[in-house]
Amino acid sequence: MEKPLIIANWKCNPITLAEAKRNFELIKENTKTAEKVEIVICAPFVFLPILKPSENVKLGAQDCFWEDRGPFTGEVSPKQLVDVGCQYVILGHSERRRYLAEKTEAVNQKIKAALGAGLKVIFCVGSETKIPGEEMEYQLTEGLKGLDKRVFDRLILVYEPVWAISTTKEKVIATPKEAQEGGLYMRKILASLFDAETAKAARVIYGGSVDSKNIRGFLDEGEMAGGLVGAASLKSEEFIDIIKNACYPER
Ligand code: PGA
Repeated sequence: MEKPLIIANWKCNPITLAEAKRNFELIKENTKTAEKVEIVICAPFVFLPILKPSENVKLGAQDCFWEDRGPFTGEVSPKQLVDVGCQYVILGHSERRRYLAEKTEAVNQKIKAALGAGLKVIFCVGSETKIPGEEMEYQLTEGLKGLDKRVFDRLILVYEPVWAISTTKEKVIATPKEAQEGGLYMRKILASLFDAETAKAARVIYGGSVDSKNIRGFLDEGEMAGGLVGAASLKSEEFIDIIKNACYPER
């Protein structure tokens, strides 16, 4: 079985470069577990050229543009991310839809460009409703439009119930069973878009209020291949504990 993938989504944190460097180094020093768990830290753009990824801890961005270069004020291209040492990029996060009106068509273009530049894509599929339905179907269908099933060796899907994100007002935490149901629903859609084999093999991880206490439930009962961690990844000790708990017991 593939090792679990634990991804930190720092979002728009921390404020200083000094703190970002300190947290990154702390995580590197305390997680010599590369053979047991894959660790990625997705930091704000400005910190990326400074943070030094290792065998153990890889570097990711939280967005990218769909062109390589040109007159696109404020944008950062996938090739630029690769050049500063990024191997991963989060795309389609619900906060970008909520605050920046990002559309799934744009996410689709971004996914294609990021894969074309050699990045691994962490594609977030959110659901506003408790029971995933049409909304998820739309995001997957449009987000993956025009992609070949071979991209799944570099495409990670995140099931993110929007209501379970730690900073939303609902303050509800999904159960492992709910995560499992979301994952299964995702695979059902993937089977119709691609084929059963692709749907079964796809790497689906879970995001939304993941912490060191609930991570094992999402991995075991929830049958998730890993976790995308927001708030809890900002407290380095807690994030290190999430990683430790993800490695043990052996899966
Ligand atoms: P959270 O964020 O862990 O703070 O809920 C997850 C995410 O939005 O990626």
